Amino acid sequence: MSLRINATAPDFEAETTQGKIKFHDWIGDGWAILFSHPKDFTPVCTTELGYMAGLKPEFDRRNTKIIGLSVDPVDNHAKWAKDIEETQGHAVTYPMIGDPELKVAKAYDMLPETEGDSSEGRTAADNATVRSVFVIGPDKKIKAMLTYPMSTGRNFDEVLRLLESCQLTAKHQVATPVNWKQGEDVIIVPAVSDEVAKERFPGGWKAPKPYLRIVPQPK
Ligand code: BEZ
Repeated sequence: MSLRINATAPDFEAETTQGKIKFHDWIGDGWAILFSHPKDFTPVCTTELGYMAGLKPEFDRRNTKIIGLSVDPVDNHAKWAKDIEETQGHAVTYPMIGDPELKVAKAYDMLPETEGDSSEGRTAADNATVRSVFVIGPDKKIKAMLTYPMSTGRNFDEVLRLLESCQLTAKHQVATPVNWKQGEDVIIVPAVSDEVAKERFPGGWKAPKPYLRIVPQPK
């Protein structure tokens, strides 16, 4: 099944390093980032999960829970977490889902295309999840998705920037322009008429073209 932006994020029950969860209940009233990695005890994944551990306070400040996932069992995650802390300098305090039966991986379409003759079935290599990221809102809808190949470590600062943009859109109906960073000007979305925009943005806006309405970032 392939997922789309604005679809409801599939709910599931799973074992994690912090006990069993029901995903939607675990998300609660805030935002969530679900991200998969291919395999425990691998080099790029070690750097990624360590970096996310360091960024966790930034996600906390944005009312956002983070949760990792791979097809490894939770016992392996727990053992590997010690290596992550030792080598990357950050303890992994967010939960990691163990998905050896590929239930979540399949529901979120995190597996790569199988290689070769499909009659041979999946090999260990293509049973591993690719590097997926799902940004999920309090309404449990998918707000954004990223997919990276196994060979490329993600830029989690960009994931944080993406989250900030999604949260601004949800709160103020503004969009963010190319390479936008926190505090910079934003764009009034086309769905907001000039009439409504006048009420929402009484300070006015710059409009180099009628469809390009630029306002300071609302608080
Ligand atoms: C890694 O994390 O280094 C890795 C994992 C799977 C495939 C390639 C690289």
